Amino acid sequence: MWRYFPWLPVFDRANVVSLGEGFTPVIMMDKLAGPLGLDRLSLKDESLNPTGSFKARGMSMAISKAKELGIHRCIVPTAGNAGGAMSAYCARAGMEAIVVMPRHTPHAFKEECEKFGATLILEDGLISDCARRVAEMNRDGVYFDVSTLKEPYRLEGKKTLGYEIAEQFGWELPDVILYPTGGGTGLIGMWKAFKEMIAMGWIADKLPRMYCVQAENCQPILETWFGRQQNAQHYSGKATVASGLAVPNPMGEALIIRVMRESGGWPVSVSENEILSASNEIARQEGLLIAPEGGALLAALKHLVHNGSVQGSEQILLLNTGSGYKYLD
Ligand SMILES: Cc1ncc(COP(=O)(O)O)c(C=O)c1O
Repeated sequence: MWRYFPWLPVFDRANVVSLGEGFTPVIMMDKLAGPLGLDRLSLKDESLNPTGSFKARGMSMAISKAKELGIHRCIVPTAGNAGGAMSAYCARAGMEAIVVMPRHTPHAFKEECEKFGATLILEDGLISDCARRVAEMNRDGVYFDVSTLKEPYRLEGKKTLGYEIAEQFGWELPDVILYPTGGGTGLIGMWKAFKEMIAMGWIADKLPRMYCVQAENCQPILETWFGRQQNAQHYSGKATVASGLAVPNPMGEALIIRVMRESGGWPVSVSENEILSASNEIARQEGLLIAPEGGALLAALKHLVHNGSVQGSEQILLLNTGSGYKYLD
């Protein structure tokens, strides 16, 4: 992702903390596309990043900037992948890392943090409970709080997704992007990248419809979108097999909703059974063992096809955010 260095907020290349993140492949999914009547269905496979998820982009950026700012201690609440990624980049940068994660998170997410030398704290509940614990622990501000959207740099790393998609699609963006939405950083980051590229004259002013995919067990954005609550501040969600989607009170809610409004997309939610069966279908049909968060995208796409919201001729991209290997237990 550091090929986009001039558009990222690190000033000195010597401060870049990299493990080879980014430029993940876009893979055609013809076997799944056929029965759905779609001509062009592809998946960008972010599971091939260091530590197995797209969180590597944000953390490579945030830890690089932390290094540039002379920071030595970082703390993060996480649904799993962000904690593993932060631990790895902190190890590489020689920084202390504290990760606060829900106790029910699958084993691999916990063990990788410890292997990278981070201090792991387990909390009952969801990421919102972990965030409260982080705020308590960091009252005196000793740690750099790398919580989603509480610092500006992870978003800049996620932004590289948008640049890459444009480059990989020959500077003509897909018609439709489905994104598994927890805190929404990837979605907001891609949209920022698209706007920057329009401003620089790199791409035309024709942007994809952005669909936020959520789990029925935790669908705060959908509840707000359909007017069943004013905002997600007091939404209480349940755990889901797609653990990255269990973000009941996303801080970037207003930005997520703005991206969907501007793009012409909307939120779609799917059940636990749909998530599991779509993940298995992708593995059996296309040979990709992706995260349940990515599986949720196929389940949501089926809804959009069946209700006529996407057309067979459209270029459709599923943004798979993580690896299925971490969820095997
Ligand atoms: C695999 C996976 N997908 C999606 C998400 C949600 O990402 P965001 O918070 O950027 O919406 C996460 C977050 O933990 C994740 O780990």
